[in-house]
Amino acid sequence: MPNYLEEIRELERVNFGSNLDNFDYLFDEENGVLTSYLTYYKVLDEIEIISVFTKEEYRNCNKASNLINSLKNIGNVIFLEVNENNYKAFNLYKKLGFSIYNKRENYYNNKDTAILMKWSR
Ligand SMILES: CC(C)(COP(=O)(O)OP(=O)(O)OC[C@H]1O[C@@H](n2cnc3c(N)ncnc32)[C@H](O)[C@@H]1OP(=O)(O)O)[C@@H](O)C(=O)NCCC(=O)NCCS
Repeated sequence: MPNYLEEIRELERVNFGSNLDNFDYLFDEENGVLTSYLTYYKVLDEIEIISVFTKEEYRNCNKASNLINSLKNIGNVIFLEVNENNYKAFNLYKKLGFSIYNKRENYYNNKDTAILMKWSR
């Protein structure tokens, strides 16, 4: 099994400007190529998704959905935060059973609002 940790760290830096340590991750690959991943923290049965990313050429093939659904098998509650203008991600999370529990205005550097979403068993 190839180790995609370094590529995931680099994609995190490029796409989200983040410099993470100690996260767990799930990924999908096709023929030795990383296609999609998600990073998360887990404490007891609670999971916080940090990021979800699918490379552009592999989008809308259920890659992110499958990864998020796999996460449901390892925790009872999942939290995440999404930019209110990221309709695609927001629709995806709604489709997968997440609901809004709070909003944080001016959350991002550009003053966009963050929507906080939660899934529980
Ligand atoms: C959001 C992202 C992870 C989705 O990955 P993906 O592998 O393409 O997602 P899936 O194929 O599993 O699901 C696509 C779902 O997104 C939603 N979606 C897809 N295209 C959409 C569009 N044009 N408008 C609104 N919703 C859309 C739908 O709910 C769709 O499910 P459906 O077509 O079965 O109804 C991917 O677009 C991405 O990496 N974006 C950039 C990074 C990002 O924004 N990450 C999320 C940060 S919170």
